[in-house]
Amino acid sequence: MIKRIAVLTSGGDAPGMNAAIRAVVRAARSYDLEVYGIHEGYRGLVEGGDNYEAMTRKSVTNIISRGGTILGSARLPEFPEPAVRDKGIQQLKDHGVDALVVIGGDGTYTGAKRLYDHGVRVVGLPGTIDNDIAYTDYTIGFDTCVNTVVEAIDKLRDTCESHHRCAVVEVMGRYCGDIARAAGLATGAEFVVTNTQNNDLQTILDQTKKFKEQGKRHPIIIVTEHLFDVTELARQIEEYSGMETRATILGHVQRGGTPSSYDRILASRLGLAAVEALMEGQSGVCLGIQSNKIVATPFEKVIGQSKNLFTEYEDIIKLLS
Ligand code: F6P
Repeated sequence: MIKRIAVLTSGGDAPGMNAAIRAVVRAARSYDLEVYGIHEGYRGLVEGGDNYEAMTRKSVTNIISRGGTILGSARLPEFPEPAVRDKGIQQLKDHGVDALVVIGGDGTYTGAKRLYDHGVRVVGLPGTIDNDIAYTDYTIGFDTCVNTVVEAIDKLRDTCESHHRCAVVEVMGRYCGDIARAAGLATGAEFVVTNTQNNDLQTILDQTKKFKEQGKRHPIIIVTEHLFDVTELARQIEEYSGMETRATILGHVQRGGTPSSYDRILASRLGLAAVEALMEGQSGVCLGIQSNKIVATPFEKVIGQSKNLFTEYEDIIKLLS
């Protein structure tokens, strides 16, 4: 029987993390469990002290609509070291924590698995804008991020139309192209570049020249980060196609903002399900959503897996552009 759980957020923040924290805290209290919020991710877990905050229903009032994470997030590269990990496990014991909910991405799950392998009861929730977690259709934060990108690209299209310019827009996603694909389809972009196998530099240049020949005067090209220097790419497109071209890097603006209703609902369902899973004795798993059903998958199946759920969007974008 567990009496006290703790919740933390780790890695890059994502809109909807607060809704997930709220759900974990409120669900725990509804089931008469005590609940700690651990500030600053795994760093706070290891350092202890004020980072462990006893939470009540009131602690999470009015956070469902807020972006970011009230618990803060930090990276702790030393966490794999056994001495650091053991200190963390001791802190959990000292605070009487029987089970843990971690909210984050692949790195967060890797940390959670280390704890699980050494006897800590832990369940993970997918919180990242990248949508790069396997065994879940959506991660918390992805939908809001795509809406942010769509709003920005709609604005870019206005000015590109006025100036007859091509826009090259770099979006986040780490090594997953789902943000580019979803935003591309939603904005009616001409082209999305999510890897360099299908779309090397020459293919992109030829494609933009074709756009020019087709009479397109303000094509939008969305590029996933880490593939090209988009400023240089814009220069090369301009030179090769003769179309004036500008690059825009959307950057961390994609991580902020009011979570969408989809993310709030997803986070609330997953937060409740995490508490129930721990009460049922589940551990070493992360929860996700598949065909609108909550599913649990062991960490070892999920960690390090790549996922590109929306690849077919690229064909649709091509056909509709
Ligand atoms: O994982 C979320 C994410 O925003 C990625 O899309 C991006 O590559 C990375 O984090 C940026 O990390 P940082 O906030 O450390 O610059």
